Amino acid sequence: MKTIIKLTLGILLVSALAGCTPGQIQMLLRSLATPPVAAGDPVHGESIFRHGSGSAPPCVTCHQIVAGGIGFSVGPNLADIAHVAETRVEGMDASAYIHQSILDPSARLAPGYRNMMYPNYAHDLSAQDIEDVVAFLLTLDGENS
Ligand code: HEC
Repeated sequence: MKTIIKLTLGILLVSALAGCTPGQIQMLLRSLATPPVAAGDPVHGESIFRHGSGSAPPCVTCHQIVAGGIGFSVGPNLADIAHVAETRVEGMDASAYIHQSILDPSARLAPGYRNMMYPNYAHDLSAQDIEDVVAFLLTLDGENS
């Protein structure tokens, strides 16, 4: 009986993983391996956004967060990302979309942009750091400039 249960669980796991991109598998393993994180701290998130953390480059290298923006940026202006993120993928809320954008940037590309986002935040930042950055981005509702 136990063997059957183990076998069923094994098959479920394998079939769940089969449909995943490497980035998603990494996210899944990470969520299994790390303890649950506290609610995001937007103040710490803004610090990572502006200054980076360890080997993770600052998000401002490629993203502006001032409405209207000036000049050229490699990535989209995130001044209104709290709203924009809600509209990107049907059935995906802003928080889930932003998490995926950071952890697995090539899974979906913002319209009009190329696959040029730094790909290793899932590795370089802790789960808590990511929560903090997401919490900060969720405050960017177009009223920040
Ligand atoms: C090397 C440049 C670069 C860095 C550094 C970078 N990004 Fe990006 N980012 C991009 C590009 C290019 C895109 C558009 C292509 C895509 O969606 O992956 C993007 C897309 C996004 C999107 C989706 C935006 C939308 O309108 O759909 C979010 C959210 C985002 N980045 C957040 C971040 C955060 C948070 C950081 C820092 C932790 C960061 N990015 C660091 C280049 C960068």
